[in-house]
Amino acid sequence: MVNDYIKFIINSSNEHGVHSPFVYKLVTECFYKKSPSTIQAKIRSYKEKLKANKNFINVTDLGSGSRVFKSNRRKISAIAKNASISTKHALLLNRIVAYLKCEEILELGTSLGTGTFSLVINNPKAKITSIEGCPETLKIAQNALKEYQSQLNLIQGDFKKVLPDVLKTKYDLIYFDGNHQKEATLTYFKKCLQAKHNDTVFIFDDIYWSQGMKEAWQEIKEHPEVKVTVDIFQWGLVFFRREQVKEHFKIRY
Ligand SMILES: C[S@@+](CC[C@H](N)C(=O)[O-])C[C@H]1O[C@@H](n2cnc3c(N)ncnc32)[C@H](O)[C@@H]1O
Repeated sequence: MVNDYIKFIINSSNEHGVHSPFVYKLVTECFYKKSPSTIQAKIRSYKEKLKANKNFINVTDLGSGSRVFKSNRRKISAIAKNASISTKHALLLNRIVAYLKCEEILELGTSLGTGTFSLVINNPKAKITSIEGCPETLKIAQNALKEYQSQLNLIQGDFKKVLPDVLKTKYDLIYFDGNHQKEATLTYFKKCLQAKHNDTVFIFDDIYWSQGMKEAWQEIKEHPEVKVTVDIFQWGLVFFRREQVKEHFKIRY
């Protein structure tokens, strides 16, 4: 991972290395924009409340397991510290929804709802479907996200079982943050292709997490329906815009 990061830094650029107007605009008007301080404060406060929660829950793990936790009985504060999206990426997720004007959004892996919260706040037109396999984890998210109920459809279940129904809708954004294994990632990617349109963005978390995830990301980039990809190390963004030439970018974020 350290070696991957060093390679990434050497091979990546800021906006100056980007000749695609679409990606240049995305980088300068979304990636490198600062989020309003009110949004920053709301996201920090959402995370702080969870980090202060000393209760334990029994976690049902349907994903790749954890490199940190040894037992399924876990403290909510520890899940918030180890499995939730970082504040920096939560803010970026929030800006992406606003910048791309995403209305129909799907998240694979709700966990405690930090990503869901980032997708929904200040985006009144966003309607978010988020799937979580662990009932006790989802209960915490449901409670923390009560205020946004009208914009949210939080579903408890295994992706495998839930996706066929959920993918009858077309989405503007799909955030893949569940099972970080090669085969699972590629399976969900291929299934979700039916729910995209020309301007949909797919965001894959942890594309350098393991050898398998690096291979999955490579395969995704090579898929014939994929046009533009943007690797920001923590995430890989995928665009399908027919009007673009196939091109892959590595952007320092
Ligand atoms: C990294 S966490 C998600 C973090 C969250 N998106 C955020 O932004 O804070 C991954 C979650 O995906 C869930 N998950 C993994 N595999 C799953 C599966 N096959 N079906 C349903 N949920 C799954 C796990 O239970 C875990 O809570």
